[in-house]
Amino acid sequence: MSNHTSDTLYVEGLSKTYGEGSTAHEVLSDVSLEVHPQELVSLVGPSGAGKTTLLRCLSGLLEPTSGRVRLGDRPVSKPIEDIAVVFQDYRGSLMPWMRVAENVTFPLQGKGVAKAERDHRAQEALEAVGLGDAGNKYPWQLSGGMQQRVAIARGLAYEAPILLMDEPFGSVDAQTRFDLEDLTLRLRRELGITIVLVTHDIDEAVYMADRVVVLGGRPTRVLETIDVGLGDDRDQIGTKENHLFAELRSHVLNQVRHNPAI
Ligand SMILES: Nc1ncnc2c1ncn2[C@@H]1O[C@H](COP(=O)(O)OP(=O)(O)O)[C@@H](O)[C@H]1O
Ligand SMILES: [Mg+2]
Repeated sequence: MSNHTSDTLYVEGLSKTYGEGSTAHEVLSDVSLEVHPQELVSLVGPSGAGKTTLLRCLSGLLEPTSGRVRLGDRPVSKPIEDIAVVFQDYRGSLMPWMRVAENVTFPLQGKGVAKAERDHRAQEALEAVGLGDAGNKYPWQLSGGMQQRVAIARGLAYEAPILLMDEPFGSVDAQTRFDLEDLTLRLRRELGITIVLVTHDIDEAVYMADRVVVLGGRPTRVLETIDVGLGDDRDQIGTKENHLFAELRSHVLNQVRHNPAI
């Protein structure tokens, strides 16, 4: 698989209000952040903070109320080919009547990729997530963890330099979650992609990231951006035993606790 390097992704003064008049609800207020090429940035905040809202704005699927998103000097005001998304709920995003391979390839149809190339990319992406034999199965024949790997494969097959992931490891057991986290770190390195990972899990945010953007408050804003100086080689036991990891997670936890959303 090939993924070319992208420009920096900028979020500038982004606010989002749902509804109007007396039912208006300002979810995000003046959020600014940057994601550099090949970085992994975690966006962490409590449930209901507006993480999915922010990610949808980053992908061009949702229009902010004010502020903007741009990739280099190009505005992201609709979905673009440079940005792939792994949605929050794989159960809602995999089509039960489509085989696994078709689930991986169907976004490529919209991108105008020819059938032979689509099939080739699907197989490569499924192999990358350890599901090279599952293309002919239906999603419901796979475990939850495998279905999440299919959703990740679909994001990879799109061959976008930027992958936005919305709580992609939710609703699986802890061991599967750790495996999926490490799989993502490995693929990210191999493919040189930029990843924005949305999560409410503070350990996961720190473990995965080069930088953590802490979201909180009411309405939600950026509370802090933290450089995670844990190096490139992470492992589930060693990294999490590191005193720096413990300090970072306590720091983020305190921020989130003292600035609750909702
Ligand atoms: N389409 C929508 N219309 C109205 N309110 C919404 C919509 N989507 C999300 N919300 C509200 O915005 C807030 C943030 O939601 P969301 O972005 O899903 O948060 P998170 O992903 O952090 O859990 C919640 O209060 C939610 O109810
Ligand atoms: Mg969400």
